[in-house]
Amino acid sequence: MSLGARIVGVGRSLPSRILTNSDIEKIVDTSDEWIVTRTGIKERRIAGNGVSASKLGAPAAKEALEKAGINPSDVDLILCATSTPDKAFPSTACYIQKEIGATGSPAFDISAACSGFTYGLEVANCFIRSGAAKNVLLVASEIFSRIIDWTDRSTCVLFGDGAAAVALAPSDGESGIISSSIHADGEYAELLKAGGMSLCEAPGGQPAISDHFLLEMKGKETFKVAVKHMSDVSTALLEKNGYKTDDLTLVIPHQANIRIINAVGKSLGIDEEKLFINVQKYGNTSAASVPLALYEAEAEGRLKKGDLALFVTFGGGLTWGAALIKW
Ligand code: ACO
Repeated sequence: MSLGARIVGVGRSLPSRILTNSDIEKIVDTSDEWIVTRTGIKERRIAGNGVSASKLGAPAAKEALEKAGINPSDVDLILCATSTPDKAFPSTACYIQKEIGATGSPAFDISAACSGFTYGLEVANCFIRSGAAKNVLLVASEIFSRIIDWTDRSTCVLFGDGAAAVALAPSDGESGIISSSIHADGEYAELLKAGGMSLCEAPGGQPAISDHFLLEMKGKETFKVAVKHMSDVSTALLEKNGYKTDDLTLVIPHQANIRIINAVGKSLGIDEEKLFINVQKYGNTSAASVPLALYEAEAEGRLKKGDLALFVTFGGGLTWGAALIKW
């Protein structure tokens, strides 16, 4: 088995402001009990004024590179997975490049909503396996609080802000990505969407940007396809590589909703203690959710050298993906 890119450093950056469920009770007609029962979320972080995806992502990027012992000038490629970029252009990856002083390397954004991290891993792995890059920085940074409709109780309780980053390098022969798999189905594009650019048009042809920026979601339908695709892609990836669920040390699923996570765990037949869950603290941080969980899993000593880990994501697009990693 030839291993692909290896994660050599993980960093994170979280806004200090915590918004609890009881704080949200003051904004919309909801209750802590409803939110916890339906989602598992107790609180989430909210970025302060002036904090953009690049501003939040840059410290996570610096931490990941420092832990990896990689100098910013030695980074060959910067990827930023985000659905809440600073601007349509320049890319958030370019802004992060400037913040960390990695001038010269290519830098671009990946738009795959909550699947952005597994999409980014796939791209990083392809660059590293082909020899086109040695050191890749993958940053996932989201400020969903800016695109949330704070009058819509069915979505505003779900999301939070956060950033995390990984530094990747070629495998040392013992650790690395075993295999990964990413997918999309644009037929379901209308289930979950946000942000208006070229589609932004009001009667008379004038852009009505404010109305088109807010997130809209068909929650029930999204829930069902999320469970199906996350379970199917995980099973297929394990089978393709000759592994069984029991071989896994840790599964890090996208942290959207505790009920989705538990349903995926049940469908895979995975022991509960092998499922990493931190959605209660941060809500759904979209592309940042898996690397934020990875950061905590590593800090808690839940991943040791040689362990088998599975990352699995799902998001707007629809997009989904999984990566099987030898830690
Ligand atoms: N507080 C109180 N009541 C609420 C709230 C709230 N925050 N939100 C909705 N309700 C009400 C509804 O109005 C409805 O009331 P009604 O029966 O009188 O009409 C009732 O609760 C039930 O609403 P449902 O939408 O049926 O609730 P459901 O059990 O489906 O839970 C939820 C909703 C949590 C959104 C769920 O569908 C879900 O988690 N879906 C998946 C969403 C998700 O994870 N998306 C992220 C994908 S990743 C990405 O790319 C961003």
